[in-house]
Parts: sequence; C-alpha cells; structure tokens
Amino acid sequence: MITAVHVHDQHVGQAPDAFRDDVIAGLRASPKALSPKHFYDARGSRLFEAICAQPEYYLTRTEEGILAAAADEIAALVGPDALLVELGSGASRKVRRLLEALRPSRYLGVDISRDFLLQSTRRLAADYPWLEVHAAWGDFSVGVRLPPSLAERRAVAFFPGSSIGNFTPAEAFLSRLRRALPTGSGVLIGVDLVKERGLLEAAYNDAAGVTAAFNLNLLSRMRRELGAEVDLAAFGHRAVFNEAASRIEMHLVSRRRQAIVIEERRFAFEAGETLHTENSCKYRLEDFQALAARAGYRSGAVWLDDQALFSVHYLLDH
Ligand code: AVI
Repeated sequence: MITAVHVHDQHVGQAPDAFRDDVIAGLRASPKALSPKHFYDARGSRLFEAICAQPEYYLTRTEEGILAAAADEIAALVGPDALLVELGSGASRKVRRLLEALRPSRYLGVDISRDFLLQSTRRLAADYPWLEVHAAWGDFSVGVRLPPSLAERRAVAFFPGSSIGNFTPAEAFLSRLRRALPTGSGVLIGVDLVKERGLLEAAYNDAAGVTAAFNLNLLSRMRRELGAEVDLAAFGHRAVFNEAASRIEMHLVSRRRQAIVIEERRFAFEAGETLHTENSCKYRLEDFQALAARAGYRSGAVWLDDQALFSVHYLLDH
C-alpha cells in the first residue's frame, strides 16, 4: 500500500548538494576538516543506525529509556495539537513513543538524506493512519524554514540523539531555531553529558568497527560521488576525548604520505596528518542550560537516567 506523505522539496534549510564544494574547501584548509553533515548519505545513514545499536554507544538506548519514562509528562507539558518537527529524523524510531503519547495532528520529518527520509516517513504514515505526515529534505544545520502550510502552528521541535553536540557554535544553532519556529513553540532536545573518558571513547570506538566504517564512508563517498582517487586502506579511524574542549573529536588519519586526487587537484597528506570529521560536544547540565538561555530559551523541564549519562530537556521560548 502506498501511503501519502506530503513531501516538501523546496528545502527546509539549504539545498543539501554542497558536498563537492565542501570537500574541496575542507581538503584545502589547514588543518583539514569537513562538516559531519556529510556523513549522512544513504549508506552513512544506515551505518549511523547500526552505531546506535552497538553496546558501547550508550546514547541511544539511554535516551530512549528517558523518553519512554517521561513520555506522559512530556505530553502534558506540550499539550494537544502542536506540530511535531523532528530534526534529522533518520529512521524516525525514537519519535514513535512520543507520537503515541502526544498524538499531534501533524508531524514533519526533516533530514539531509532524501531516500532515507522518504522511506522512514512512509513507514510512519502507514503505522499511524491518524497522523498527517510531512517530509522536508534539507540541511537544517544552516537554518530551518518551515514549509508555509505548516508555519502557522505552535510547534515542538524534537532534536534527539545529542545531535546538538555536532553543531558549533550550538548557541547560534538554537537561536536560529527559536527565530524560525512560531511563537510559543518549544524544543525537546537530547544532550549527552560529560563523563569518564573511558566510557566516552569506547562509544566512538566500538569493537565491531561500525563507527570506523561510518567515518571511512566519507572517503568512499568522495570516490562514489566525486570520482576521487583515494586509498581507503591508507586511512584509519581515530576518536579521542578532548577534555579541554569537552568534546569527542573524530579524525581520519593518514597512515602514510599520500594524496587524495579530485578533478586533477592533489590534496597532499603527511603521514599522521588528519582530516577532522566531527566534534561531538559533551555538556555539564548547568552549562547546557546557560547556553540555551543565551539562545533565548528557558528550561521547562529536564530528565536524566539513573546514572546521569544523558539528559533530555524541554526548552521554552518565553
Ligand atoms: C548524530 N550524532 C549525535 C552522533 C554523535 O554521537 O555525535 C554521530 C556519531 N558519530 C560517531 N558516532 C556517532
């Protein structure tokens, strides 16, 4: 059965086709760096789903536990008839428990990976026939613009998974989000907390090598989409906790002196030189609340798991 999803192809943020330009600019930069948004082609999105199921990656299951325990409380705070906007909706798995508790009349999934977005919103529409399901393909990291037909409603932006940790500066992102949503809207956001280095580094260096494959997929993507000449075996995955900056940093490390060649341009790497692919910031509770306040949000509620590994915040714009 084909179930109707309202697809908004005018993009909620920027058209997500800047991979080539970003790769060339990132390989030219010193130090070399690329935005983590480029992880999420169809293969990268699947690998990310697999990361979420790894035993070392405590984030997903901990957040799901918090959301399940708090779902009724969240529903009472949000109230009926809000538009639920999921940013980076991916497989739209975490939102299911919320949909059941909140029963919003409309849902908008926003993701940078178009195929993935369409598949998952179609599944939602089939599983929740009472729900009006919308899908908007876009790069919300540069800003959110609701499709005009949905811009009138009070909204709740659902931003799970501690994806906020991948945005620097996070404050600027939250403040843009606040300005983009109708007055009276809220944000339900998952935020990973600072903890012991061993636990953090294990989460980004899973034994099955899924995070390594996710990181290296950026190079495969350069090959597939840009025809890049690159020796995948000559790069390794590195994820370390930078305590001073309170973030996990992911890098692709060149094992030897070599070059990546794209459109006859050579980007030289020394042995040990890295391409910095991701920051994943970890917060103290009070630091995140202060950051949200600087972006114009007050804290409506916050929930933690028993071990205080992860937090879920409900932020209000007034
Ligand atoms: C999407 N984001 C919150 C993940 C994180 O933990 O920063 C992406 C990720 N990178 C490596 N593993 C997972």
